[in-house]
Amino acid sequence: MELIVNNIKELLGIIDEDVLLVKGSDMSKVNRIKDAYIYVKDGLIAGFGNVEDSSYKQLLQERTDLRLIDAEQGLLIPSFCDAHTHLVFASSREVEYVDKIKGLTYEEIAKRGGGILNSAKAIQSASEEELFDSAWLRLQEIIEMGTGSVEIKSGYGLTTEAELKMLRVIRKLKEKSPLTIKANFLGAHAVPLDYRGRQHEYVDMVINEMIPMVAAEDLADFIDVFCDKGFFTVEDTDRILNAGMKYGLRAKIHANELALSGGIQVGVKYNALSVDHLEFTGEEEMKVLLGSETMPLILPGAAFFLNMPYAPARKMIDYGLPVAMASDFNPGSSPSGNMQLILSMASILYRLTPEEGLNATTINGAYAMDVSTETGSITIGKKADFFITKPMSGLEYMPYYYGTNKINKVFIGGVRQ
Ligand code: NIG
Ligand code: FE
Repeated sequence: MELIVNNIKELLGIIDEDVLLVKGSDMSKVNRIKDAYIYVKDGLIAGFGNVEDSSYKQLLQERTDLRLIDAEQGLLIPSFCDAHTHLVFASSREVEYVDKIKGLTYEEIAKRGGGILNSAKAIQSASEEELFDSAWLRLQEIIEMGTGSVEIKSGYGLTTEAELKMLRVIRKLKEKSPLTIKANFLGAHAVPLDYRGRQHEYVDMVINEMIPMVAAEDLADFIDVFCDKGFFTVEDTDRILNAGMKYGLRAKIHANELALSGGIQVGVKYNALSVDHLEFTGEEEMKVLLGSETMPLILPGAAFFLNMPYAPARKMIDYGLPVAMASDFNPGSSPSGNMQLILSMASILYRLTPEEGLNATTINGAYAMDVSTETGSITIGKKADFFITKPMSGLEYMPYYYGTNKINKVFIGGVRQ
């Protein structure tokens, strides 16, 4: 199938094929073409340019069969790459949310068996079909909001059987959805109540039972650990990542959300694709990241929702680092997968420019889920994943007019959604 989108006010996010992430001062650059068109062939981006280009006029003359889509003077923006979510879950947790408003901390709720353990109880009694159906609705929701790629974690199972169930649901979502989906095995998300005081035995089970079974069914692309105060230690994380690596699972870990946990260092040691959250990041951690291939991935929704300190994203970029931002869509700490809102938070809460925010949520998100050779920018040969906005003045309007859906048309793999 071939099509042309024309009457585009501005086409944004053009990136050379060999650029897989942007960092430091390059994050403020977004290449763009005004009065543009884009040509899509077999689901891929096959060409783009200004409507005055002779090649465009020639294409229109020669190919009268092409389907024409009118962008109605909207902007054309590459789809968001949401590189950190927990969007397979069995039930919401608004009761806990009220406890949080009344003053209980995330850790206090976790200690009394709430939080992640609460979600785990619900997952264990839900069927694969139920989990698939509710996750499918969430996928539809994020597609409408402009997401084209999404990473989804297990981690609400916490038994071998329930972790495998979650990962099988993610596999089915991969098969049925037009989105590019990556699966992340997060067996070490919390220590189940019956393992309290025997944390090392739970870690042993993750290593000796869960990882081999996940690998045998080829259910995961990545491996994750919640390496933080009150959850898993650096030593636990070291053992788990080491075991995962032997099965070809690249690390992407939760780190430094609740304390200077050493999570960033252990992530970099295992060449993690990303270290995520990072509310507690100092100069030493930034130095470690600077010499690495690990993407610092910040989750504005979780810090906002939990009323936590914000990760030093501005400092990181000024230090020369790349930064990615994702939704962390989950029932406990960020019940929203709206990446347009993340774009607004990037500016409002972290002082990123609209251009930096766009790079953080597209190409750098793609890098953080290992798909930046396929998507995350407007590049010839990449998947035709993009959206057309409602008519607006320019990119600044996207973070500025926060809270509503500013998208008019969505294309994933060149197919209108
Ligand atoms: O990324 N920080 C750890 N895990 C999730 C929270 C999951 C939950 O509370 O259910 C997060 O925020
Ligand atoms: Fe998370």
